[in-house]
Amino acid sequence: MTHTPSRRTVLLCAGTGAAALCAGCGGGGDDGDSSAASSGQELASTSDIPIAGGKVLTDQKIVVTQPKTGEFKAFSAVCTHQGCIVSDVRDGTIDCACHGSRFAAADGSVVRGPATKPLPGKEITVEGNSVRLA
Ligand code: FES
Repeated sequence: MTHTPSRRTVLLCAGTGAAALCAGCGGGGDDGDSSAASSGQELASTSDIPIAGGKVLTDQKIVVTQPKTGEFKAFSAVCTHQGCIVSDVRDGTIDCACHGSRFAAADGSVVRGPATKPLPGKEITVEGNSVRLA
């Protein structure tokens, strides 16, 4: 009679300080679409913002306007119609090229549809030549 030594395979799952790899772990905290802009962040230089015009900051999804000399405003650049990023600021309006909506550069209100809701305002501060998120 022969005894064949049986081999036991023992899987040790001792978490002995090695990094616990978490491949495929769900529930990560990054929802992928949080605002790219954060408080205190410089958005633009005041000299970048034309009087009676503005500048669309595509990456930050913010549009900064200067309706009157030295008066700066900022709004979400996401059109309230169907979510395009507004394209331009001209003649006192923030314009969306997707379907032609226009918003007042002074307060974000709808000047021309199809959008029906204003662009939400963003709090900003102007320090020296810097326009920053408040
Ligand atoms: S998404 Fe801007 S007008 Fe339609």
